[in-house]
Amino acid sequence: MKEKLEQIKAQALNDIKNAASGDALEQIKVRFLGKKGELTSILKMMGGLSPQERPKMGQLANEVRSALESALENAKSAVKEKELAARLKLEKIDVTIDGTRRPVGKLHPLSSTLEKLEEIFTGLGFTVVEGPEIETDHYNFEALNVPKDHPARDMQDTFYLGENLLLRTQTSAAQIRTMENLKPPIKIICPGRVYRSDDVDATHSPVFHQVEGLVVDKGITMCDLKGTLEIMVHKIYGENTKVKFRPSFFPFTEPSVEVDVSCPECGGKGCRVCKGAGWIEILGAGMVHPRVLAGCGIDPEVYSGFAFGIGLDRLTTTSHKISDIRLLFENDNRFLQQF
Ligand code: DAH
Repeated sequence: MKEKLEQIKAQALNDIKNAASGDALEQIKVRFLGKKGELTSILKMMGGLSPQERPKMGQLANEVRSALESALENAKSAVKEKELAARLKLEKIDVTIDGTRRPVGKLHPLSSTLEKLEEIFTGLGFTVVEGPEIETDHYNFEALNVPKDHPARDMQDTFYLGENLLLRTQTSAAQIRTMENLKPPIKIICPGRVYRSDDVDATHSPVFHQVEGLVVDKGITMCDLKGTLEIMVHKIYGENTKVKFRPSFFPFTEPSVEVDVSCPECGGKGCRVCKGAGWIEILGAGMVHPRVLAGCGIDPEVYSGFAFGIGLDRLTTTSHKISDIRLLFENDNRFLQQF
């Protein structure tokens, strides 16, 4: 038995010396000191020894046990230290390596121009409303005094989604939705995307943006329209910009005007941007047609109103001196960083 104990001790110490991981040490512990371990089995045989032998062997067995336990403990902490050192080496961070720079986003010039417009108009007492981009023929045309066979439909090449559904060609549709829901006094703007089947070039895009405006109350006149739009133009382009109202035609306004501003590039002398004209058109407007008011249940004998539709893309490119509308839709960060 003595030999057996010595042998176990030698074997276990050797195994402990060679164990490379905490797991391996755990296995050794189970193999020798566990309930069914080799040392434990020997101890169970003690009962068969003579009374003289028993204390000697008992003492020896205890010595072996505590030798193994302390060897295991030492080995365990050595392995732990080694594992920690290996992990630290693996996770070492080189703080001198250059970081990855993430480009910082900016407000798109269309958004910042719209924010400016919203600030100007809310300052004048307008509220901002929204309308759907998929519209019915009724809201986009019919109720705006543009019946099915009206030649004015040719002015706007429409994307139809079915017999009566279409992608709105103008934010003017919001006028009708607003007048159907609100009683005068009404003072709203409605910004949003509009769609027309146009080919893409420097000044055209099949998707672009308008900001509709509508004011309905008792005693609203063309003077109110002029004054309101002049305030807007001067805030966007600067106080020295001239504003010109040209007679025009829209089915939903009578009389109708188009509004030009003196060219922000050349100040009116004539240049490439204004194509030599000295003026740039930025919106259509007019006094709301009595038939449109009546169709929405507003008595044109009592109320009058004005409306306008600002070309937001035009306003953005000309006020920022951007030469090509396509730049607004490409989202090239080198372009956007300039604003
Ligand atoms: N909807 C017109 C267009 O897209 C612009 C316009 C003109 C809007 C006159 C109006 C208006 O509200 O009164 O060309």
